[in-house]
Amino acid sequence: MAYENILVETDGGVGVIRLNRPKALNALNDALIAEVSAALDAFEADAAIGCIVITGSEKAFAAGADIKQMSESQFADLYARDPFANLERVQRTRKPLIAAVAGYALGGGCELAMMCDFIIAAGNAKFGQPEVTLGVMPAWGGSQRLTRSVGKAKAMDLCLTGRMMDAAEAERCGLVARVVAADKLMEETLTAAKKIASMGQLSTIANKEAINAAFETPLNEGLRLERRLFYSLFATEDQKEGMAAFIAKRPPDFKHR
Ligand code: HXC
Repeated sequence: MAYENILVETDGGVGVIRLNRPKALNALNDALIAEVSAALDAFEADAAIGCIVITGSEKAFAAGADIKQMSESQFADLYARDPFANLERVQRTRKPLIAAVAGYALGGGCELAMMCDFIIAAGNAKFGQPEVTLGVMPAWGGSQRLTRSVGKAKAMDLCLTGRMMDAAEAERCGLVARVVAADKLMEETLTAAKKIASMGQLSTIANKEAINAAFETPLNEGLRLERRLFYSLFATEDQKEGMAAFIAKRPPDFKHR
């Protein structure tokens, strides 16, 4: 498929989606979101892909939902069509998904990054939920995911003042997994993504499913799910290979089966 708002490439088992509307700082319009969804479908269907990276430019991961596109919206139409359910494809992704963030990740951009499994940030990254400055509020999960990720105090601070926080603050409060030098962002992210892609795919998907369940289930249910998933991995060839390789003191050769 030919894309106009994203660039797509693969690199050693990793699928990379680069948001590419430079003139609008990668503002998320309907066309871009449809392309991201299509690219995710294609990477998920490709057995050779074991990890997916979403990134932007050096200046902006994404500066939010496209304000120009949404400015004339009316309540009745929004309520009837529910157009902002359009990013749900991202959270349904079963393969591991990393956000590599440089520059602005604001509003919907911050929310898109938070839909990924973890965020690797460049030193120049800036995160924020500035919707309040436009007379609105987050709608792609910012009020929920940010609060679960950084706690009530910081989420209230960011959503009510609309201020930006830098990469160091984002790492301190647990929003991002790591901060790396801006010129090393893709190198470091691809190293992590290739490492993940080299693991057995069924075990990476199960790890992700169990961790995500921690946000949706009571502890007892989550612990039961974890054990069930653990037991189920003993039905995979990759478990046999991983443990046999350890005992034989050789690297594992996972077949993702
Ligand atoms: C549409 C945007 C945009 C956006 C930037 N642009 N952000 N267009 N939607 N979210 C456009 C500008 O209009 C401008 O186009 C070009 O990108 C460059 O932006 P500048 O403002 O000139 O750049 P700069 O001075 O460097 O400032 C960067 C910035 C600022 C601080 C990131 O652009 C900014 O504040 N953007 C809006 C951030 C924001 O409020 N995001 C939340 C959106 S609401 P022209 O044509 O003038 O050159 C949201 C809701 C999500 O995300 C909830 C679900 C719907």
